[in-house]
Amino acid sequence: MLDAGGQYCHLIARKVRDLGVYAEVRPSDTPAAQLTGSRGLIISGGPSSVYEPGSPTVDPALLSSGLPVLGICYGLQLMAHLLGGTVEKGERGEFGLSVLEISALSPLFAGLAPGPRQVWMSHRDLVRATPPGFRVEARTDTCPVAAMGDEARQLYGVQFHPEVVHTHQGKQILENFLFRICGCRPDWNPKRRIPLVEARIREVVGPRSVFFFVSGGVDSTVAYTLCLRALGAGRVRGVYVDTGLMREGETEFVRRMFDALTAGAVRMENAAGRFLSALAGVWDPEEKRRIIGEEFVEVQEEILESEHFLEGDWILGQGTIYPDTIESGGTAHAAVIKTHHNRVPGIQRLIESGRVVEPLSSFYKDEVREIGRELGLPEELLERHPFPGPGLAVRCLCAPAEAALRRIEEGYLAPLRSVGVQGDSRSYAPVLALEEILSPEAGLHQKATELINRLRGINRVVAQVAARAPLPQLAVRPATLSPERLARLRRADAIVRRLSHQHGFDRRVWQFPVILIPLGTRELPDSVVLRPVDSVDGMTADSVLMEPALLAAMAEELLRVEGLCAVFYDLTHKPPATIEWE
Ligand code: XMP
Repeated sequence: MLDAGGQYCHLIARKVRDLGVYAEVRPSDTPAAQLTGSRGLIISGGPSSVYEPGSPTVDPALLSSGLPVLGICYGLQLMAHLLGGTVEKGERGEFGLSVLEISALSPLFAGLAPGPRQVWMSHRDLVRATPPGFRVEARTDTCPVAAMGDEARQLYGVQFHPEVVHTHQGKQILENFLFRICGCRPDWNPKRRIPLVEARIREVVGPRSVFFFVSGGVDSTVAYTLCLRALGAGRVRGVYVDTGLMREGETEFVRRMFDALTAGAVRMENAAGRFLSALAGVWDPEEKRRIIGEEFVEVQEEILESEHFLEGDWILGQGTIYPDTIESGGTAHAAVIKTHHNRVPGIQRLIESGRVVEPLSSFYKDEVREIGRELGLPEELLERHPFPGPGLAVRCLCAPAEAALRRIEEGYLAPLRSVGVQGDSRSYAPVLALEEILSPEAGLHQKATELINRLRGINRVVAQVAARAPLPQLAVRPATLSPERLARLRRADAIVRRLSHQHGFDRRVWQFPVILIPLGTRELPDSVVLRPVDSVDGMTADSVLMEPALLAAMAEELLRVEGLCAVFYDLTHKPPATIEWE
């Protein structure tokens, strides 16, 4: 996979691996000489225009090397551009679903079911004229060259995205490229790599021992377990840092899990006091993140020092996975936090002196789960939803002062700072609370999207589920990250987790944040927002509704929590909102 800057690059590589073919992501301008041994190349999409100075390109030698190449989106345009075709800005963009008309028999389209084919497009630039030797293989209403190919040179390009589920039969198209055109065999299976990974751990670690900061997440636990198997119990140890920002029962869960692996080898460090005092009185979201990041770094360094892990016979184990090792990969915010942790000066020194082992650095999340399953780790761990590094801190909204709701025609504007995605950065805006009570029939998702497009300055819409006071009586209350509010959020989150697990709803969503917002009455100063979303990788997400009976049970129990005034439901997809509220 040659990465031309597209957010879909990792998605494509993952799909290829799912089909049983090993794929690695490399920068687009990797010299051809470094790619010998590949069976084929895919050039990804990307946000640039081939005519812009400095836009990503590939080594032209790759296009005459005899290696099969598939260009996707920008990758198609780049091939056309480098080989003498023309690329230009389309009159209108093509974003979303289109119908593909196939106009030539191509090995890329072998075995596709007949009839109109739905494909997913996201482009403005298009190929107007194919390069010499190519023929047009498909078009859409808007796009004269939706696919092109030169069978003699084994060069192919598609403007649509075969890697997304909205392209029907996209999988078949990728299979055709891998198996018919490149002649690959489906022989990649992460589970079968376990012995190799263990051998590699023994090689890197040599006679030394390994120390981990474990989090209770899938990656660090699987990495820890692999080291345990490779090196034996006496040579692997860990510390779990309790920041006081964890969910209910989290610390006990981690203790139980690691005790089952090797009793006593993981020590629990209670750092709640120092995190909470550093956060006292803070309400700004980015300030919270900064404080937590810095505090974490300090705690880690202190532990490394005090346990003498920076000296002698120890090396550091980390649960870094493949997308984390590549600049453009992963979810931007998670990456920032992880980079933070991986760049502690002490850890940086260890990396430079070859004293870090990262057994999972060539695997994707799903593969890590498969490996974990093969190692016999509990499903309860493997199926955990992602949870942000700063923990409940970013799900406990704060406010500097009291502020009233503002009535507008469409509902009430709550002057909270909720985050949305605008360009590449997080932007903060008030939330629109609808007067309607949530019901599955009301088409409220569509209404939320319409409202955000129409009303400027909001990026999130919620509906009411249940309340102990009418909406017009609520106001934003001054609030910080107090132990009391964190306890309130922890209780609400535990109720939601228990009920969604009992109803199997947790398996239907990718993540289910519960957010505490300082919106309520004087006696009942807070409310909660339910934010279940479905997603593939956190980059985009859909708000998901739940069964009315489950929702009613949840709301009833939540409103019995001390200090809670109302339950809201977040109806906003990402974009324009983010998954988290901060
Ligand atoms: P957003 O809110 O940006 O979240 O749509 C995308 C994914 O990233 C997670 N997230 C974080 N993870 N530190 C983390 O480790 C953070 O500060 C952070 N903020 C968001 C979020 O839970 C979701 O999975």
